[in-house]
Order: sequence, then C-alpha cells, then structure tokens
Amino acid sequence: MVTDATRPSDHGGTDAGPPVHYDFSTNAHPLGPPPAVLDAVLAADRQRYPDPTYTALRAHLADWHAVSADRVLPTAGGAEAIRRISLAALLAGVTRVCVPQPGFGDYQVAALTLGLAVVGYRNRQELVQTMDRPCLVWICDPCNPTGSTLNAADWAALDEAQRASGSHVVVDQAYEPLRLRGASSLPPSQADRLWRLICPNKALGLTGVRAAYLLAPVVDDWRPRVQSLAASWVLSAEGEALLRAWAQSEVQEELAESHRVLLEWVQDQQLRLATWGFEALAGSVTPFWMARLPELDARTDLDLDPALDLNLDLGAVRQLVLPTPPPSATPPSPPSPSPSPSPIAPPPPAAIPAMQPARLLPTTPAALLQALRLHGIKLRDASSFGYPGWVRLSVQTPQALLALMSALHQVLGPHHVSRRRSEAPSLPPTLDSPEDPA
Ligand SMILES: Cc1ncc(COP(=O)(O)O)c(C=O)c1O
Repeated sequence: MVTDATRPSDHGGTDAGPPVHYDFSTNAHPLGPPPAVLDAVLAADRQRYPDPTYTALRAHLADWHAVSADRVLPTAGGAEAIRRISLAALLAGVTRVCVPQPGFGDYQVAALTLGLAVVGYRNRQELVQTMDRPCLVWICDPCNPTGSTLNAADWAALDEAQRASGSHVVVDQAYEPLRLRGASSLPPSQADRLWRLICPNKALGLTGVRAAYLLAPVVDDWRPRVQSLAASWVLSAEGEALLRAWAQSEVQEELAESHRVLLEWVQDQQLRLATWGFEALAGSVTPFWMARLPELDARTDLDLDPALDLNLDLGAVRQLVLPTPPPSATPPSPPSPSPSPSPIAPPPPAAIPAMQPARLLPTTPAALLQALRLHGIKLRDASSFGYPGWVRLSVQTPQALLALMSALHQVLGPHHVSRRRSEAPSLPPTLDSPEDPA
C-alpha cells in the first residue's frame, strides 16, 4: 500500500521512457476505438467551449442509463472523479477511506493527499469489519489489477454494512464494458444507492481522451458538492464527443462483438505464457490478469522442452556464463612470431578474454521486466500493488504475443516448461499492513 502522499500513483501504459512497441501494461482495448467513436472525437468542435452545464450530454447519458439527468455528473476522466469524490468526503467530515487491496492506486493516493486515513481490505469480511463508522468506500468491479468480481453475497453484505454505518460507497465500473465472462451481480435496486463511476475510454481504446462520468445515488447529500467542485468546462469538447458516441447501440454492439475475440486471445495468451512459467491468478473476468513471474534464481532443474520451441529465427542462442579460469602462473605462450617483428609490442595475450562476452540472465523480476522493455515490450510490474514478483498483463494482438514470446526466448533462453510450484498461485498478504490511525 502507498503510504507516501507525495508520491504519484504508479500506472501501466505510457510512461516517461522510450515508446514501447507492444504494451501489455495498458488496460486499453487492444483493437483501438470503434470507427464511429473515433470519427466523433475527431469531429469535436475545438473552437468553442462546450456547454458548461453539459445539458444535452447529461440528458443523453441519463436516457441511456434510465436515470434522471441530475444524477449524471461529467468528469475529466475517472482519475479526476476519484479526486473530487475524495474531497467531497473530506468536506463532509469523513475520516476513513476503505480501498481494495490490491486495487487501483488512485483511491489511496487521493485520500492520503487530503490527510484521510486509508484502510485496505482484501475481502468482504475485512471490508465489513472496517465499516464501523461512516466511511468512503471504494469498490472496483471488475477489479484492477486482478480482474476479479464481486458476487451476490458480497453485494448483500456491503449493502447491509453501508446502511448500518452510513457510509458512502463508490463502485468504479471502469472495466465493466470489458467484462468477458458473466455479468455484474450488482442488483439494480442497490445500484441506485451507490455512486457509480463509468470510464469508457479504456473499453473504447481512447485513454488519451480524458472523459468519464459519475452516476449519483437517487438520494445522496454529497451530490451538490461533488457537482460544484468541478472546474468550469471540466470535460473537453473531445471528451464530450466521446461520451455521446459511447452511449449508442451500434458502438455497444461492436464492443460486445469484440469480447469473443478478446476471450480467445486471453486464453491463448495464458496457455502460452504458462509454458514460460507465468502462473495466472484465477478469477479474472477481464482482458487483464495477474501472473506470478517464473522463478528466475533457481534454474538448474529446468525441464528444457525443444518441442515447445516456436519456429522463430532468434539469432544467437543464450550463452550461459562459464566460470572464468583462474589466472595462470606461467604466462600463456605468445602468438606465433610474425615474419618481420614489429617495433610495437602486441597486447599481452592474458588481456584477451578467455570466452565471448556472455549474456547475463535476469535473476530478479525487475531485471526481467527491464530486459523485456529493452526488447520494446512492457508488462505492468505489480510491486506498487504490494505484490513484488507479480505482473499484470493485458491481452494484446497475436502479433504482440508473438513478439513477447520471441523476447522471452532471447532474454531467458530456450523455450522451457518451467518448474511448477506445488501450490496454485494465490495472492500473498500485502507486504505493508493497512494503516488506520483513527
Ligand atoms: C479502476 C480504474 N478506475 C479509474 C481509472 C482512471 O481512468 P481515467 O482517468 O482514464 O478515466 C483507471 C485507470 O487506469 C482504473 O484502472
């Protein structure tokens, strides 16, 4: 868990480093935007301010969700909504913020920045225990980074705890449109008692457009404040265009159609990476999933399996580091004398390396990720979620997967079936214990 309020959240996707060719660290849709949405964004009128009240947009989204327009609050992306809700919580006198562990880092960073106490919860029992006073509760369903989802019993327990404690609950549904398996178990009647955060830019493959919206509960004392805390024209013209285009049947149908492809790809990706010792955490319903990285430091009994090798032209095969011979007491014999001795003495033969420079195998997760990055491939290190040695991977195109396989060949050596650990992967307890001064 992040405890330093001055540290920004860690994110997957674009960073300050050189561009990556194949980005498995972003959760944006790998097929990019539906043409109708891209057209709408590109056609946005940038020469004028948008309507500062966003009346038409709110009516459009309200219609789409079958709610009243005053419940729709446009935001400049989900991240901005998280900051605004956190500030509203502070102003309402809330002191405790409950965040999923592991979970999207912005919830806790937003709270810590405001001096609010953050309590992490790993499951329903821990959450319910924590809600012994009015709290701001963040639920991420499906959850980033695990891709897991709440079941009906989770929602029922949350509902009861919310009523008993007078807490405000926000359900971040950023990845609901990328749910590949099953459906949300959130009962519609309960949805009316919660804040819901809708961030379509990931499912639309347009994360550079900063646009999202909140759906307020039917009855809620925070709504006027959350509304008035928004900066003027909080949503850009492009953002407004994206949200209008998002709430259309043809776009939703195209998105739903892509789920079949994504599911096939994610299954293939998991199978192939399993042969490299990546162990998937079960339970993801999304195109992203968490994996424990292969064991890197104990590679002596790897079961090399050339039959699994892809037919790739990989150039040089991995060279293992051979022990350097100890310096010899007698100098090695000089090279054969040249016919006419040169006045310049040749370099002493002992200075010539005894072997070709060896490629070093990465022995730590960070080194492996760095080596892949040098091959133009980025995976999301899960250390900032509290899980060193794990990564979050999103599904990418078959071409990208092939590039990842090729890079693993080059970084780790011949294709192998890694030693299986005895137990199925499950998340270890977080390294940092939740803090709660209150
Ligand atoms: C769970 C979750 N919520 C919200 C966001 C914020 O997204 P944006 O600000 O792009 O809408 C993200 C971004 O990664 C996320 O993963």
